[in-house]
Amino acid sequence: MGSMWKVLKIKTLVLVVLFSLACSSVRATVSYDDKAFIINGKRRILISGSIHYPRSTPEMWPDLIQKAKDGGLDVIQTYVFWNGHEASPGKYNFEGRFDLVKFIKLVQQAGLYVHLRIGPYVCAEWNFGGFPVWLKYVPGIEFRTDNQPFKVAMQGFVEKIVNMMKSEKLFESQGGPIIMSQIENEYGPVEWEIGAPGKAYTAWAAKMAVGLNTGVPWIMCKQETAPDPIIDTCNGFYCEGFRPNKPWKPKMWTEVWTGWYTQYGGPVPRRPAEDLAFAIARFVQNNGSFFNYYMYHGGTNFGRTAAGLFIATSYDYDAPLDEYGLPNEPKYGHLTNLHKAIKQCEPALVSSYPTITWPGKNQEVHVFRSKSGACAAFLSNYDPTYSTKLTFQNRQYELPPWSISILPDCKTEVYNTARISSKGSTAKMVPVSGGLSWQSYSEETPSADDRDTLAMQGLWEQVNVTRDSSDYLWYLTQVNIAPNEGFLKSGQWPVLTAMSAGHALHVFVNGKLSGTVYGGLDNPKLTYTGYVNLRAGVNKISLLSVAVGLPNVGLHYERWNAGVLGPVTLKGLNEGTRDLTKQSWSYKVGLKGEALTLDNVTGSSSVEWVEGSLLAQKQPLTWYKTTFNAPQGNDPVALDMISMGKGEIWVNGESIGRHWPGYTAKGSCGGCNYAGTFTEKKCQSGCGQPSQRWYHIPRSWLKPSGNLLVVFEEWGGDPTKISLVTRTA
Ligand SMILES: *[C@@H]1O[C@H](CO)[C@@H](O)[C@H](O)[C@H]1NC(C)=O
Ligand SMILES: *[C@@H]1O[C@H](CO)[C@@H](O)[C@H](O)[C@H]1NC(C)=O
Ligand SMILES: *[C@@H]1O[C@H](CO)[C@@H](O)[C@H](O)[C@H]1NC(C)=O
Repeated sequence: MGSMWKVLKIKTLVLVVLFSLACSSVRATVSYDDKAFIINGKRRILISGSIHYPRSTPEMWPDLIQKAKDGGLDVIQTYVFWNGHEASPGKYNFEGRFDLVKFIKLVQQAGLYVHLRIGPYVCAEWNFGGFPVWLKYVPGIEFRTDNQPFKVAMQGFVEKIVNMMKSEKLFESQGGPIIMSQIENEYGPVEWEIGAPGKAYTAWAAKMAVGLNTGVPWIMCKQETAPDPIIDTCNGFYCEGFRPNKPWKPKMWTEVWTGWYTQYGGPVPRRPAEDLAFAIARFVQNNGSFFNYYMYHGGTNFGRTAAGLFIATSYDYDAPLDEYGLPNEPKYGHLTNLHKAIKQCEPALVSSYPTITWPGKNQEVHVFRSKSGACAAFLSNYDPTYSTKLTFQNRQYELPPWSISILPDCKTEVYNTARISSKGSTAKMVPVSGGLSWQSYSEETPSADDRDTLAMQGLWEQVNVTRDSSDYLWYLTQVNIAPNEGFLKSGQWPVLTAMSAGHALHVFVNGKLSGTVYGGLDNPKLTYTGYVNLRAGVNKISLLSVAVGLPNVGLHYERWNAGVLGPVTLKGLNEGTRDLTKQSWSYKVGLKGEALTLDNVTGSSSVEWVEGSLLAQKQPLTWYKTTFNAPQGNDPVALDMISMGKGEIWVNGESIGRHWPGYTAKGSCGGCNYAGTFTEKKCQSGCGQPSQRWYHIPRSWLKPSGNLLVVFEEWGGDPTKISLVTRTA
């Protein structure tokens, strides 16, 4: 019996040892050194691309992920959007476009890895930088600093996400696809600005994240002070000169900007495929081993998810996959070829450092030679204007200006960043035949004595009143005009001045539109000044203040205000100037049409619509509705809104976003300037045109027939010229 027990005990011991060995080898599958990420014992050059799950639909995800894979990507990177998941405290949403687990599992099924940027601050041109609005109203809170209420809330959400990933076994250490995570986001500049509390917050965030034991590395982007073992990484148009803060960390580029975002009132930015490929080749030849396209698919800011200020509904970003999920050629193809060339060099890249020589003016050669005999060379011409002949190992290579050639065997040039061999763009918008038949409903202008308004003394900050439940807040007051006012006789109307912190304002006097003003891209603040047609007795002043998203970036952006904060004055009365700022104002959150949910079938049948000769045209504050059949085929669908001003669009009750074609691109922004280095400022188009004309309607939101389309128009437009289009590749 005794010896039996011994044998059993030894067997158990061996089993335990074997088991823990197995566990620890699973645990250790992702690590890194100064050269690269190491997965299953192999150093890897990792090519990554950002696809933000709520900026497309679950029905689009498999195709986007497949196209990313076909384009040569190893990793999909996404932020986690806190305010999409927890719009009110403790009430979580992980459904539909916010089904994070489903998105990650689809990436896994495609055989790709995930870089999960938990943040939870994400910036991202996303409403409030990803923070829920309620967070601002937690007593004593200050965002992104050494502040207890903030840290408690942040830790709660980060733990929620990490635990969710763990319970679904999604970390690589558990056999899942997540090979790295991110805590915070571009915190370096903030820490530098605020000093000691910023440093303390960084130390806390790093410790908190590492303490969650995900089994995979954490990174902090654009933050030189990232505490060990967290890897600091680069974001930018170019990152070749970046060095991580410790010599034993790999050189990573978490955001390769493929273009830039569009703002209403701004041009459409573009980044040439040649320059993008050049920047990446230059990064890789300088020890870079991870780069991520921001964005690979930018997608759409559906609903009211676009951030202030003036971020457009389209988040196309000039990414390799366009807003609709179609290849953006020649960029997609040119980068796919770049990835193939880089992968051919991988054995040499991961096992050696480059030897650098300068054979001629503006010429540079990087050679990677591994002990096992692999050799890869990168030949550069940094001259922005002239091509050059470069001699390397007794062969001559012709290099176009501002370009890098890749030689995976140190002989054969398989790729040059400036020579595009992929096909050009043939994508276009094709009008769908058949017009739409519209009905209209006029939004009422409320007044201060309406029953459903809230009377308060003075002017109140907009978001504090709306809590962002709507873009719209009515500021309502009354002015009494004595019958002996001089202007009533002279006809010299008084001047109303109203100052607002932003972002747009419609001024109504006695129910009639007096004027509209809106902020600029550099400054959201605005001032309305105009003659107002007042009569003797009581006059109703109704100011409709419109927020266009909450800010997403800036030092203590949670303190930024919106709405009419005053002063509001009337000039040209017998008494001189009357200050209305401190008098009684009444407030009404949102539009009547929003309260009635005119955007869906039930709501839209609750009011009387008019049509034909009664159809409101070029009238402010008008709701329009129509029904339409889904266009034939599978091509993506969009609305051409060129004839409209500003507002929001719904299809079958789903908001496809804010429209604002009335805001045209200003400034000098034609074409590209190829001098020296290219930046987002140098390649822009669409001056004098609407910043955004077309609005994506996801196919999966459509039925074959009888789709309800509702448009709310603030300014006044001509709905009869709205048309459906399909986008063809
Ligand atoms: C590559 O890394 C090695 C090791 O840290 C370093 O000595 C070398 O200067 C780096 N080369 C470049 C071009 O950054
Ligand atoms: C928000 O409104 C409340 C009253 O509801 C007020 O006490 C508070 O000072 C306001 N906060 C801000 C930041 O305006
Ligand atoms: C319409 O919207 C309201 C408010 O969101 C909702 O309660 C109702 O269920 C919706 N109806 C339909 C048919 O979607």
